[in-house]
Amino acid sequence: MTLPWKQLLLLSIIDCLAECLDSGSFHGPRWRMEPSDLFIPVDSMEEEATLTCDAKGIPPSQYRWSLNGTLINLELDHRRRLSGGNLIIRSLDRYQDGGRYQCTAYNTMGAVLSRRASLQFAYLDHFKLHTRSAVSVREGQGVVLLCGTPTSSGDLSYSWVFNEYPYFVQQDNRRFVSQETGNLYIAKVEPSDVGNYTCVVMNSITKGKVHSSPTSLVLRKDGVMGEYEPKIEVHFPDTVPAAKGSVVTLECFALGNPVPEITWKRANGVPFPSKVKMKYSNAVLEIPSFQQDDTGGYECVAENKMGKNIATGRLAFHAKPQWIQTMRDTALAIEERLHWECRANGKPKPSYNWLKNGQVLITEERVYVDNGVLLISSLNLSDAGMYQCVAENKYGVIYFSTELMVLASSPDFTGNLLRALLKAKAGTIVTLECKPQAYPTASILWKKGNQPIHTNDRITLSPDGTLRITNVTKYDAGSYTCFARNRFGTSSTTGRLLVTDPTRITQGPVDMEIIVGESIVLPCQIACDPVLDVFFSWAFNGQLITKTDRHFELVGGRTAGDLMIRNIQLNHAGKYICVVDTDVESLSAVAILIVKGPPGPPDTVAVEEVTDSTAQLSWSRGRDNGSPITSYLIQTRTPFTVGWQRVDTVPEVIDGNTLTATVVDLNAWVEYEFRVVAKNSVGVGEPSPTSLQTRTEDAVPDAAPTDVGGGGGSRSELVVTWELCFTPSLFPRNCRTVRASVTLSRSVASVR
Ligand SMILES: *[C@@H]1O[C@H](CO)[C@@H](O)[C@H](O)[C@H]1NC(C)=O
Ligand SMILES: *[C@@H]1O[C@H](CO)[C@@H](O)[C@H](O)[C@H]1NC(C)=O
Ligand SMILES: *[C@@H]1O[C@H](CO)[C@@H](O)[C@H](O)[C@H]1NC(C)=O
Ligand SMILES: *[C@@H]1O[C@H](CO)[C@@H](O)[C@H](O)[C@H]1NC(C)=O
Repeated sequence: MTLPWKQLLLLSIIDCLAECLDSGSFHGPRWRMEPSDLFIPVDSMEEEATLTCDAKGIPPSQYRWSLNGTLINLELDHRRRLSGGNLIIRSLDRYQDGGRYQCTAYNTMGAVLSRRASLQFAYLDHFKLHTRSAVSVREGQGVVLLCGTPTSSGDLSYSWVFNEYPYFVQQDNRRFVSQETGNLYIAKVEPSDVGNYTCVVMNSITKGKVHSSPTSLVLRKDGVMGEYEPKIEVHFPDTVPAAKGSVVTLECFALGNPVPEITWKRANGVPFPSKVKMKYSNAVLEIPSFQQDDTGGYECVAENKMGKNIATGRLAFHAKPQWIQTMRDTALAIEERLHWECRANGKPKPSYNWLKNGQVLITEERVYVDNGVLLISSLNLSDAGMYQCVAENKYGVIYFSTELMVLASSPDFTGNLLRALLKAKAGTIVTLECKPQAYPTASILWKKGNQPIHTNDRITLSPDGTLRITNVTKYDAGSYTCFARNRFGTSSTTGRLLVTDPTRITQGPVDMEIIVGESIVLPCQIACDPVLDVFFSWAFNGQLITKTDRHFELVGGRTAGDLMIRNIQLNHAGKYICVVDTDVESLSAVAILIVKGPPGPPDTVAVEEVTDSTAQLSWSRGRDNGSPITSYLIQTRTPFTVGWQRVDTVPEVIDGNTLTATVVDLNAWVEYEFRVVAKNSVGVGEPSPTSLQTRTEDAVPDAAPTDVGGGGGSRSELVVTWELCFTPSLFPRNCRTVRASVTLSRSVASVR
């Protein structure tokens, strides 16, 4: 195949235009559709045949076709033309068009060969029209009627007509039609078999049918055939090649009297797997989807009471190649080494070929080809292109395509420039990266100012071009330039290094105790190198303080980032961290704030015991809010008082550890409510919830009734009213008018 493809490539560039420029990356052809095998009935040769071929590529792919390995010249051909990559053939010709077709797709980036597709013509000629001589047999004898198949192409199937259409010979244990030869076998002839037999052949592709001349079967009159042992007439070959996944059928049929019985065995004694089917009274054994396990010896036994006859043969497994390892599209720098390996399984073991742009590669100079391995040492630009690994055995050939791109360019720092200004804290490690894109890899040279840098135990240069300075000092500050060079050119990038003094926190926050409601400032002040940008932030109990809490405000300037807390609340107690971030470092200082407040309210105030003037109370402790509770006060309220009043208790002073007290000097028969208030060094806290209302016991009034009056009432009744007063120590004078009626016969009134 001498190729005009390099010249055609120029044309494809013109085809490409805008599409190629837009989509950016050029690439070689990649298959979208490869041709597949075609079997065309001869009687439909008026129609066109289309062999498909389509590959995407940038620039767009061009195509050419070969038949039986010879390039088809389409220029002067009026029967064949291209449509896209498809080859369309009209006025088909059985002798000119049958064969193996292969498409090549190519563009400026390279060329690939498609799979091979065969174009075949299916046909079935007519039987020769001569009369067939009669076959005469004795009753009980076996007979074979030959079909004598005419020439054909394509799969055939056979049947026999008995006497006249549409009466077909029914297959049973006595009669069998071989689909291999078309012949009809009758194991033991009976009088009813006498008649005319016609072989019918059908082509499964053309669907065409042809009939033979009839053969007539007659019985000889000279007696009946006696019993005899089976004789196997239909016998599968000694070796049957069987493709992986195919349907395999073995035929076995015997003549004999009595009619023989057929059975099957595997030579290794292993029983047949369930997928194996027997048909036509065991004359056919069928293995769907043949696998390697099914390989081996098969035995057919034909038996009757006179004896047995055995046929044996072997099923031999084969498989066309199938990839188990392939390559990917690869981009390598010029001068690098290419190592590709492809592997396929298959039986027999496949052999390999490598193609570059459709041409076979052989070992020479920098190229080494060995089976599935392709090595190219020190790539050069001319190695770029489409490569194919081809694996082939007797039963098939497969292609795998890959593109090799060879990169060649001068160093380019785009996207990898040094930072124009790099700050580093004195004493730390500085790394300056020099990573240009360069094919082949560039050699690197660093300069500080105009002086090449000398490496030492502090300044090192790694193979990838990175410059590393440990324990950096002010003397290291300056302008650094990385020069990169390969055989295509030189490029450089420059950055300035500033070495800064370490930042210190000169005044940080300290642990403090604060009273609730106060305002404070937590200081955070630093001394730092003037070239540094500084940023302050605060964290409170692990959360960054933001502007949302109106109690907090960040105050300060370049070197101060104080935190002001206004009207501090109990929930502001905790851990405060001032964080100082500069371009080169991060520092922090921590303080714990304790916020003190008056105690929280005591809880569960209960009246344990009541008399006419005392009530015993108990309560539980509330929060001390940062300062121990020093004492408790009891307050009370009655329907007769305005607001809460402090009451006397025993003990008089209730210390912070006591949770019970007795209220004294209460009035009798009055409903009291109580509450408890705690006190600490900060102040008096919120009162507890109110106790349940409790009425004191009754008692003899402590003063004589006053304002006694009377009047009204019936004749036998006297209504007396008077005012009864109690004067507890703290309360206002507490009086009620009492009204009672007394019968006149009584001299003393007891009033309640
Ligand atoms: C191509 O090769 C096949 C197989 O060898 C042959 O049968 C066929 O005639 C050839 N086709 C042409 C057009 O030569
Ligand atoms: C068989 O064919 C012959 C000649 O065509 C004919 O004479 C004969 O009757 C046929 N036999 C039967 C059973 O149809
Ligand atoms: C690339 O290698 C081939 C052969 O290996 C050689 O003929 C060609 O001159 C080389 N091209 C360059 C640019 O070096
Ligand atoms: C860096 O400096 C420290 C203190 O000055 C010193 O102990 C250390 O050995 C130095 N390291 C190097 C690599 O020079």
